[in-house]
Amino acid sequence: MPLAENCIETERLLLRRMQSGDAVLIFNSYASDPEVARYMVWPVAKYAQDLDRFVSVNIAAFDAGTAYEYVVELKETCSIIGGCGVRRAHPQSDDHYIFGYCFARSMWGRGFATETTETVTDWFKNNPSIYRLAAHVDIDNKPSCRVLEKNGFTREGILHRWEVHPTISPEPRDCFSYSMVR
Ligand SMILES: CC(C)(COP(=O)(O)OP(=O)(O)OC[C@H]1O[C@@H](n2cnc3c(N)ncnc32)[C@H](O)[C@@H]1OP(=O)(O)O)[C@@H](O)C(=O)NCCC(=O)NCCS
Repeated sequence: MPLAENCIETERLLLRRMQSGDAVLIFNSYASDPEVARYMVWPVAKYAQDLDRFVSVNIAAFDAGTAYEYVVELKETCSIIGGCGVRRAHPQSDDHYIFGYCFARSMWGRGFATETTETVTDWFKNNPSIYRLAAHVDIDNKPSCRVLEKNGFTREGILHRWEVHPTISPEPRDCFSYSMVR
Protein backbone atom coordinates (compact mmCIF):
# COMPACT_ATOMS: atom_id res chain seq x y z
CA MET A 1 0.00 0.00 0.00
CA PRO A 2 1.85 3.11 -1.12
CA LEU A 3 1.16 6.05 1.14
CA ALA A 4 -1.42 8.45 -0.31
CA GLU A 5 -2.13 6.34 -3.40
CA ASN A 6 -5.57 7.10 -4.87
CA CYS A 7 -6.35 3.43 -5.62
CA ILE A 8 -4.84 0.24 -4.25
CA GLU A 9 -5.71 -3.09 -5.81
CA THR A 10 -5.67 -6.44 -4.03
CA GLU A 11 -6.76 -9.83 -5.34
CA ARG A 12 -10.50 -9.21 -4.84
CA LEU A 13 -10.68 -5.60 -3.67
CA LEU A 14 -10.09 -2.05 -4.72
CA LEU A 15 -9.22 0.42 -1.97
CA ARG A 16 -10.27 3.73 -3.40
CA ARG A 17 -9.78 7.22 -2.05
CA MET A 18 -13.07 8.73 -0.81
CA GLN A 19 -14.76 11.22 -3.11
CA SER A 20 -17.74 13.54 -2.85
CA GLY A 21 -20.86 11.55 -3.64
CA ASP A 22 -19.73 8.57 -1.55
CA ALA A 23 -21.94 9.45 1.44
CA VAL A 24 -25.05 7.75 0.06
CA LEU A 25 -23.05 4.67 -1.04
CA ILE A 26 -21.42 4.32 2.39
CA PHE A 27 -24.81 4.80 4.06
CA ASN A 28 -26.42 2.08 1.96
CA SER A 29 -23.49 -0.30 2.35
CA TYR A 30 -22.68 -0.30 6.06
CA ALA A 31 -22.97 2.97 8.01
CA SER A 32 -26.73 2.62 8.61
CA ASP A 33 -26.36 -0.85 10.15
CA PRO A 34 -26.24 -0.88 13.98
CA GLU A 35 -24.43 -4.25 13.92
CA VAL A 36 -21.57 -2.71 11.92
CA ALA A 37 -21.53 0.43 14.09
CA ARG A 38 -21.57 -1.54 17.39
CA TYR A 39 -17.84 -1.29 18.17
CA MET A 40 -17.10 1.85 16.19
CA VAL A 41 -16.55 5.37 17.54
CA TRP A 42 -19.24 6.76 15.22
CA PRO A 43 -23.01 6.49 15.79
CA VAL A 44 -25.14 4.56 13.33
CA ALA A 45 -26.20 6.92 10.53
CA LYS A 46 -29.91 7.67 10.26
CA TYR A 47 -29.71 9.58 6.98
CA ALA A 48 -27.21 9.58 4.13
CA GLN A 49 -26.66 13.31 4.72
CA ASP A 50 -25.26 12.42 8.17
CA LEU A 51 -22.18 11.19 6.28
CA ASP A 52 -21.53 14.27 4.13
CA ARG A 53 -19.27 15.78 6.76
CA PHE A 54 -17.49 12.45 7.39
CA VAL A 55 -16.65 12.24 3.67
CA SER A 56 -15.56 15.87 3.32
CA VAL A 57 -13.38 15.69 6.48
CA ASN A 58 -11.69 12.56 5.12
CA ILE A 59 -11.08 14.12 1.70
CA ALA A 60 -9.47 17.15 3.39
CA ALA A 61 -7.36 14.95 5.69
CA PHE A 62 -6.14 12.92 2.70
CA ASP A 63 -5.12 16.15 0.93
CA ALA A 64 -3.38 17.36 4.10
CA GLY A 65 -1.60 14.02 4.56
CA THR A 66 -2.90 13.48 8.09
CA ALA A 67 -5.17 10.49 7.35
CA TYR A 68 -5.64 8.11 4.44
CA GLU A 69 -9.21 6.78 4.51
CA TYR A 70 -10.45 4.53 1.70
CA VAL A 71 -13.70 2.95 0.66
CA VAL A 72 -13.28 -0.74 -0.09
CA GLU A 73 -14.92 -1.91 -3.30
CA LEU A 74 -15.48 -5.49 -4.34
CA LYS A 75 -13.92 -5.74 -7.81
CA GLU A 76 -16.44 -8.35 -8.93
CA THR A 77 -19.42 -5.99 -8.46
CA CYS A 78 -17.74 -2.55 -8.36
CA SER A 79 -19.72 -1.84 -5.17
CA ILE A 80 -18.62 -0.47 -1.81
CA ILE A 81 -18.44 -3.21 0.84
CA GLY A 82 -16.49 -1.41 3.56
CA GLY A 83 -13.98 1.17 4.61
CA CYS A 84 -10.47 1.23 5.98
CA GLY A 85 -7.71 3.68 6.68
CA VAL A 86 -4.82 4.94 8.70
CA ARG A 87 -4.51 8.22 10.52
CA ARG A 88 -1.66 9.92 12.32
CA ALA A 89 -1.57 9.15 16.04
CA HIS A 90 -0.24 12.67 16.63
CA PRO A 91 -1.19 15.41 14.16
CA GLN A 92 2.35 16.76 13.86
CA SER A 93 4.24 13.52 13.21
CA ASP A 94 4.09 11.06 10.31
CA ASP A 95 5.86 8.11 11.93
CA HIS A 96 3.07 6.58 14.05
CA TYR A 97 -0.33 5.63 12.61
CA ILE A 98 -3.60 4.15 13.83
CA PHE A 99 -5.40 1.67 11.60
CA GLY A 100 -9.14 0.92 11.38
CA TYR A 101 -11.63 -0.94 9.16
CA CYS A 102 -15.24 -2.03 8.88
CA PHE A 103 -17.28 -4.09 6.43
CA ALA A 104 -20.93 -4.55 5.48
CA ARG A 105 -22.50 -7.37 7.49
CA SER A 106 -23.32 -9.45 4.41
CA MET A 107 -19.56 -9.54 3.63
CA TRP A 108 -18.31 -10.79 7.01
CA GLY A 109 -16.44 -14.07 7.21
CA ARG A 110 -15.06 -14.02 3.66
CA GLY A 111 -11.55 -12.84 4.52
CA PHE A 112 -12.00 -9.29 3.27
CA ALA A 113 -10.75 -7.67 6.50
CA THR A 114 -7.73 -9.95 6.37
CA GLU A 115 -7.03 -9.07 2.73
CA THR A 116 -7.27 -5.36 3.59
CA THR A 117 -5.11 -5.70 6.70
CA GLU A 118 -2.38 -7.50 4.73
CA THR A 119 -2.22 -4.49 2.40
CA VAL A 120 -1.88 -2.05 5.29
CA THR A 121 0.76 -4.13 7.08
CA ASP A 122 2.72 -4.34 3.79
CA TRP A 123 2.57 -0.54 3.68
CA PHE A 124 3.99 -0.41 7.22
CA LYS A 125 6.73 -2.91 6.43
CA ASN A 126 7.76 -1.01 3.29
CA ASN A 127 7.93 2.39 5.02
CA PRO A 128 10.91 2.29 7.40
CA SER A 129 10.26 5.81 8.67
CA ILE A 130 7.09 4.58 10.41
CA TYR A 131 7.96 3.05 13.76
CA ARG A 132 4.49 2.05 14.95
CA LEU A 133 1.15 0.93 13.50
CA ALA A 134 -1.56 0.61 16.16
CA ALA A 135 -5.19 -0.52 16.38
CA HIS A 136 -7.67 -0.19 19.24
CA VAL A 137 -10.37 -2.82 19.57
CA ASP A 138 -13.32 -3.12 21.95
CA ILE A 139 -12.57 -6.04 24.29
CA ASP A 140 -15.77 -7.79 23.12
CA ASN A 141 -14.95 -7.52 19.39
CA LYS A 142 -13.55 -11.01 18.92
CA PRO A 143 -13.58 -11.14 15.09
CA SER A 144 -11.52 -7.94 14.92
CA CYS A 145 -9.03 -9.26 17.52
CA ARG A 146 -8.67 -12.38 15.38
CA VAL A 147 -8.04 -10.39 12.20
CA LEU A 148 -5.27 -8.38 13.86
CA GLU A 149 -3.64 -11.35 15.59
CA LYS A 150 -3.54 -13.49 12.48
CA ASN A 151 -1.95 -10.59 10.59
CA GLY A 152 0.92 -10.19 13.02
CA PHE A 153 -0.28 -7.52 15.44
CA THR A 154 0.67 -7.95 19.10
CA ARG A 155 -1.88 -7.45 21.86
CA GLU A 156 -0.16 -5.06 24.28
CA GLY A 157 -2.76 -4.75 27.00
CA ILE A 158 -6.03 -3.09 27.94
CA LEU A 159 -6.72 0.61 27.56
CA HIS A 160 -9.23 1.16 30.34
CA ARG A 161 -12.22 3.37 29.50
CA TRP A 162 -10.45 4.26 26.24
CA GLU A 163 -13.20 5.41 23.87
CA VAL A 164 -16.97 5.67 23.54
CA HIS A 165 -18.76 3.26 21.21
CA PRO A 166 -22.06 5.13 21.13
CA THR A 167 -24.18 2.30 19.72
CA ILE A 168 -23.48 0.36 22.94
CA SER A 169 -23.45 3.12 25.54
CA PRO A 170 -22.31 6.70 26.24
CA GLU A 171 -19.76 5.29 28.70
CA PRO A 172 -16.12 4.90 27.54
CA ARG A 173 -15.29 1.25 26.84
CA ASP A 174 -12.24 -0.85 27.60
CA CYS A 175 -10.23 -1.64 24.45
CA PHE A 176 -7.30 -3.85 23.61
CA SER A 177 -4.27 -2.03 22.29
CA TYR A 178 -2.67 -3.80 19.33
CA SER A 179 0.45 -2.79 17.48
CA MET A 180 3.26 -3.70 15.17
CA VAL A 181 6.49 -1.79 15.72
CA ARG A 182 10.03 -1.53 14.43
C1 LIG B 1 -14.35 -7.21 12.42
C2 LIG B 1 -14.61 -7.32 10.92
C3 LIG B 1 -13.90 -6.17 10.23
C4 LIG B 1 -14.05 -8.65 10.40
O1 LIG B 1 -14.20 -8.66 9.00
P1 LIG B 1 -14.21 -10.04 8.16
O2 LIG B 1 -14.03 -9.68 6.75
O3 LIG B 1 -15.37 -10.83 8.55
O4 LIG B 1 -12.88 -10.72 8.73
P2 LIG B 1 -12.14 -12.00 8.13
O5 LIG B 1 -13.12 -12.85 7.38
O6 LIG B 1 -10.92 -11.55 7.41
O7 LIG B 1 -11.64 -12.74 9.45
C5 LIG B 1 -12.50 -12.90 10.57
C6 LIG B 1 -11.86 -13.88 11.53
O8 LIG B 1 -12.54 -13.80 12.78
C7 LIG B 1 -12.98 -15.08 13.16
N1 LIG B 1 -14.16 -14.93 13.98
C8 LIG B 1 -15.41 -14.61 13.61
N2 LIG B 1 -16.20 -14.56 14.69
C9 LIG B 1 -15.42 -14.85 15.76
C10 LIG B 1 -15.68 -14.97 17.16
N3 LIG B 1 -16.90 -14.75 17.68
N4 LIG B 1 -14.64 -15.29 17.97
C11 LIG B 1 -13.39 -15.49 17.48
N5 LIG B 1 -13.10 -15.40 16.15
C12 LIG B 1 -14.11 -15.09 15.31
C13 LIG B 1 -13.23 -15.78 11.84
O9 LIG B 1 -13.30 -17.20 11.99
C14 LIG B 1 -12.00 -15.32 11.04
O10 LIG B 1 -10.84 -15.98 11.46
P3 LIG B 1 -10.26 -17.25 10.60
O11 LIG B 1 -9.94 -16.73 9.25
O12 LIG B 1 -9.06 -17.67 11.37
O13 LIG B 1 -11.35 -18.29 10.57
C15 LIG B 1 -16.12 -7.27 10.58
O14 LIG B 1 -16.79 -8.18 11.42
C16 LIG B 1 -16.73 -5.91 10.77
O15 LIG B 1 -16.72 -5.09 9.86
N6 LIG B 1 -17.31 -5.64 11.97
C17 LIG B 1 -17.96 -4.37 12.24
C18 LIG B 1 -16.97 -3.21 12.28
C19 LIG B 1 -15.84 -3.47 13.25
O16 LIG B 1 -16.04 -3.98 14.33
N7 LIG B 1 -14.63 -3.05 12.84
C20 LIG B 1 -13.42 -3.20 13.64
C21 LIG B 1 -13.30 -2.17 14.66
S1 LIG B 1 -11.77 -2.39 15.59
